[in-house]
Amino acid sequence: MTLLTCRIDAGIACVTLDNPPVNALSAAVRRALWDMAETLDADPAVRAVVLTCAGRTFIAGADVREFGQPPVEPHLPDVVARLEGAAKPWVAAIHGAALGGGLEVAMGCRFRVAAPTARVGLPEVTLGIVPGASGTVRTPRLVGMAAAVDLVTSGRHWPAAKALEAGLLDAVLDGDLTEAAMGFARRALEKDLPDPASARPLSPMPEEFWTEARKTAARAGHAAPLAALDCLRCASEAPFAEAMAKERETFLALRPTPEAQALRHVFFAERAAPRPAALKEVAPRALQRVGVIGGGTMGAGIAAACREAGLEVVLIERDDAALARGLAAVEAIFDGAMARGKLSQADRAARSDGLSGSTGYDRLAEADLVIEAVFEDAAVKRAVFAELGRHCRADAVLATNTSYLDPRGLTEGVPHPERMLGLHFFSPAHVMKLLEIVPLPDTAPEVLATGFALARALGKMPVQAGICEGFIGNRILKRTRAEAEQLVRRGVPLAQVDAAMRAYGFRMGPFEAQDLGGLDIAYLQREGARADGQDVPETLGDLLVRAGRKGQKTGGGWYDYAEGDRRPQVSPTVEALLAPHVAAADPLPPEAIAAALVGAMAAEGQALLAEGIAQAPADIDLVKIHGYGFPRWKGGPMFAAALEMPSI
Ligand code: 3HC
Ligand code: NAI
Repeated sequence: MTLLTCRIDAGIACVTLDNPPVNALSAAVRRALWDMAETLDADPAVRAVVLTCAGRTFIAGADVREFGQPPVEPHLPDVVARLEGAAKPWVAAIHGAALGGGLEVAMGCRFRVAAPTARVGLPEVTLGIVPGASGTVRTPRLVGMAAAVDLVTSGRHWPAAKALEAGLLDAVLDGDLTEAAMGFARRALEKDLPDPASARPLSPMPEEFWTEARKTAARAGHAAPLAALDCLRCASEAPFAEAMAKERETFLALRPTPEAQALRHVFFAERAAPRPAALKEVAPRALQRVGVIGGGTMGAGIAAACREAGLEVVLIERDDAALARGLAAVEAIFDGAMARGKLSQADRAARSDGLSGSTGYDRLAEADLVIEAVFEDAAVKRAVFAELGRHCRADAVLATNTSYLDPRGLTEGVPHPERMLGLHFFSPAHVMKLLEIVPLPDTAPEVLATGFALARALGKMPVQAGICEGFIGNRILKRTRAEAEQLVRRGVPLAQVDAAMRAYGFRMGPFEAQDLGGLDIAYLQREGARADGQDVPETLGDLLVRAGRKGQKTGGGWYDYAEGDRRPQVSPTVEALLAPHVAAADPLPPEAIAAALVGAMAAEGQALLAEGIAQAPADIDLVKIHGYGFPRWKGGPMFAAALEMPSI
C-alpha cells in the first residue's frame, strides 16, 4: 500500500498520509516522510507543502506497537528536523487528533492549521514515557513554558480553539480542510515566513515555578511526568541541541521500564475490551429510552449517567416518598456537575427535561432498556422482574445491577430470556468507569452487544464477566480483604498494611477503604450466608461490626475518626478488640505486604480465568484499575504478577 500520495496544484503540493487505523508513525511512514521532503525540495514546481491525513485522524503518534523493538532509522526527531529544515514550508492540516509524535511532526512544519473539531496533545506521559521527538523542546517555544508544562506533564488533549489561543495552531479553518489549508499555504507564501519553532526564543522561569510544577507532576504517582518536567526545564536553560539530546535520552531510558510496559499494556487492553471479537459482526439494539428501577445510591447514579449520555430516563420507585428522594438525588448530581462548571444552565435544564419518575410500571411500555437497582434481596428483585415481564416490550433489554445474587434466579420464568443481562455498575455509578457485563445462559448476542454499546455511550469501560458470587471485581476484593486480615492476624499492624498499599499506588489501603464504604454490607452478606447454613469463617471485620464499629459513618471502624475529620487514627479500642486474635507485632517491609496482597488478587484472577468467569488476564487488570483504584502504571494485578513471576 502507498503510505504517502502527492498531488501538486498551482505550486502547492498536497501530501496525504494513509496508514490506517490512526496514521501512526511506523518506521515505513518515517522513511516515506523523509523521502517525500527530499523529493519535494528538489521539485521546482513546488513552493509549499500541505500535509494531510486520510481516515479518522491526523497522525496519532509513534506506533506504540514498535516500542518493544530496537529503534529503526530514520528516527522521528530527525524526520521532524528534516521537515522543519525543508526548503519549501510545510503546513500541517490537522483533523481528528494530532497526538504525541503526530503533534511533533506538526511542530516541525512551519505552520499548523486545523479543523474546528480537531484536538492536539502530548499524551506520552500516559504511556510512561516523555515526548521523544522534540515535544518538550519545541512546544515551550511555541506556547510558552507554563502552557507547555500543562500540556506535556498532564497528557491532556487541547481542543483546537484552545490550541489556537495558546499559539500552537496558526489557524482553525472551516469547510474542506485540505482545500482550506492549500489556500492558507498560498496566502502564507505572500508574506515573510515566521521562524521555525526551534529558532524561537525561550526565557528561563523562576525557581518557584519549577517547585510548584514538580508538586503537581508528582501527584501522578509515577516517574514520567517528573521526567518530562526535567526535560522542559532543560529546554529552557540549555541550548536547543542539548535539550533535544536530554529528551531523547530520557525517552529511550523510560521506554523499557516496567511502568511504561504496564501503561502500554493498559492502553491496548482498554482498546480491546470494549470490542469483543465474538461480537464484531453483531449489531446492538438501538437505545433511546431507559427505565431505572430503584432510585437509591446506585439507581440515582445510573440514571444520571444515562442522562449524561442523552438517554431519556424514567425512574421507578416503590412509593411517592422514595420516588421524590430518588429524583432529588439525580437532580443533585446534575447540580453538582453545574457547580463544577461541567454543565451550562441550558444543558442542566435539558438533563432534568429528559428525566421523569413513576411508582407504576406502565411508563416502561416503550423502554428500550430497563436496569434494576433495588435492594439486594432476591425476593424483591424477582418481583420486579415479574412486573417487567408483564409491562415491557418483548425486545426490551432487561438488566440487573445485583452485586452478588445469581441473575439466573432473579429472572427465572420471565418471558424472552434472550433479553436478560447483568449490568454491574460501581459506586458512584455516574463517576466510576467500570461496567461488568454479565451474559446469562440464554442472552442473545445482540443483547450482549447492546450492553457494550451502552458502555460506550456512557463512557464506561466494559468488561465481560461470567456468573459467580461477586463476578470478577467483588470476588477478588473478598480474597484481598481476607489476605489483608491474614497479615493482621500474623502480627502486621493494620496501619502498615494500608500504608504499604498507598505506597504501592492505591489512594487508600484496604482497611481505610472499608471504613469509607462501611463494614456492615459485607458483614450482612456473610451473616445471610451463615443463616443459609453456609460455612463462612468468622472474620476480624465481624468482631468490629458486632462492637458497633461500621466505619466512618459510626465514628470508627478499623480506625477511629474525630468528628468531621476523615483522617484515620490508630484505634486503641480496635487493638484491644483484636488482641486475642492476632500474633505479637511482626512488621513486614511494605514491598512484602504489597506483594502478598497483589499476589492474592492475581491468584483469585487465575481462578476466575480457570473457571471461565473472566475471559482474559487483561480484563481482570481493567476491572481492578477502573473499579478498585489499582494504580494504572502497575498494569493491574495480572500484569504485575506476571512481571514478578513470568509463569503466571
Ligand atoms: N500506535 C499503534 N496503534 C495505535 C496507536 C498508536 N499510537 N493509537 C491507536 N492505535 C490503534 C488502537 O490500538 C486501535 O487498534 P485496534 O483497532 O486494533 O484495537 C486503533 O488504533 C484505533 O484506536 P482507538 O480505538 O483508540 O480509536 P479512536 O478513534 O477511538 O481514537 C485516537 C483515536 C484518539 C488517535 C486514539 O487512538 C489515541 O489516543 N491514540 C493514542 C495516541 C497516543 O498515545 N500517541 C502517543 C504515542 S507515543 C509517541 O508518539 C512518542 C513520540 O513522542 C515519539
Ligand atoms: P439502596 O438501598 O441505596 O437503594 C435501593 C432502592 O431501591 C431504594 O431507593 C428503594 O426504595 C428502592 N426499591 C426497593 N424495592 C423497590 C421496588 N420493589 N420497586 C422500586 N424500587 C424499589 O441500594 P443500592 O446501594 O443502590 O443498591 C441497589 C442494587 O445495586 C443492589 O442490588 C446492590 O447490590 C447493587 N450494587 C450496589 C453497589 C453499592 O456500592 N451500593 C455497587 C454495585 C451494585
